[in-house]
Amino acid sequence: MGVEVNLEGKIAFVTGASSGLGDRFARVLAMAGARVVLASRRVDRLKELRAEIESEGGDAHCVELDVTDLDSIKAAVAHAETEAGPIDILVNNSGVSTTQRLVDVTPEDYNFVFRTNTEGSFFVAQEVAKRMIVRAKANPERQSRIINVASVAGLRVLPQIGIYCASKAAVVQFTKSMALEWARFGINTNAICPGYIRTEINEGHFETEAGQKLISLLPRRRIGEPADLDGLILLLAADESRFINGAVITADDGHSVF
Ligand SMILES: NC(=O)c1ccc[n+]([C@@H]2O[C@H](COP(=O)([O-])OP(=O)(O)OC[C@H]3O[C@@H](n4cnc5c(N)ncnc54)[C@H](OP(=O)(O)O)[C@@H]3O)[C@@H](O)[C@H]2O)c1
Repeated sequence: MGVEVNLEGKIAFVTGASSGLGDRFARVLAMAGARVVLASRRVDRLKELRAEIESEGGDAHCVELDVTDLDSIKAAVAHAETEAGPIDILVNNSGVSTTQRLVDVTPEDYNFVFRTNTEGSFFVAQEVAKRMIVRAKANPERQSRIINVASVAGLRVLPQIGIYCASKAAVVQFTKSMALEWARFGINTNAICPGYIRTEINEGHFETEAGQKLISLLPRRRIGEPADLDGLILLLAADESRFINGAVITADDGHSVF
C-alpha cells in the first residue's frame, strides 16, 4: 500500500515563480494536483511555466506581482482568487540578495533587500491570511497553509550577506508570530530554511573561486538543486501536516550543523 500527497482541489499561490525555487515549488505542487497561481514581475516567464505545467496535465494561472508595492500585492491576491479560487496554500518565496561587506552597504542595498524579503513577504502573508481568516470563520474545519521561504542565513551568519541574513531572520521570527496568531483559524504557518541551492540568485557566485571554496567547505562538498526541496514543500502543503505549525525547518544538506 502506498501513501501519496494529494493536493487535488487545493489552490496554491506561489510568489517568485518565475525562476529557481519558486518555479520548482509551483511544478511540484501542480504535479500533486493543486491548481497553482504563478506570481512575480516577469510575466513572460510565468506564461512559459504555465504552458509547461499545462502540457503535463496541470492547472496553472499567472498574475503579475511586485511584492515591494502594497497595491500590487492586494491586486495580485484578488486577481488570483478571481481566476483560480480561494487560496489554500501560500508559498511566500520571492526574495533577493546583494553581496558586500557591511561597511559597503548603502541605504539602497538595505532597502532593496528588506523591502522584498521582509516587508514584501510579510504583507503578502497578511493579505492572503486576511482572506483565509474570513473563510475559517465561515468554515472552522477549513485548513490553510502558509510556507515562508527563509534561509539558513536567517538562522546563522554567513559572510558578505549580512543584510540578507538579517532580512531572513525577521522572516523566521514573524513566521512564529503568524503561527501563534493565526492557529485558531486553521492556518499553519511554517518557515523553510534552505541551504545553498543553485538558482539565479547565486549561480554566478558558485562559478567563482570564492564560490568553489565555499562548496568545498560544505559537509558533502556540493550544493543543492531546486528539486531537493520537493519533499519538504509537499509535506508542509498537505493536510497531513496539520500538527506542524510555527516550525522552522532547515533543508541544507547538513550545512548548519557546524
Ligand atoms: N537559492 C538558494 O541557495 C536559497 C537559499 C535559501 C533561501 N533562498 C530563498 O529562496 C527564495 C527564492 O530564491 P531563488 O534561489 O529561487 O532565487 P531566484 O531564482 O533569483 O528567484 C527569486 C524570485 O523572486 C522573485 N522576486 C524578486 N523580487 C520580486 C519582487 N519585487 N516582487 C515579486 N517577486 C520578486 C523573482 O521574480 P521576478 O524577478 O519575476 O519578479 C524570482 O522569481 C528567495 O526568498 C531566496 O532568498 C534561496
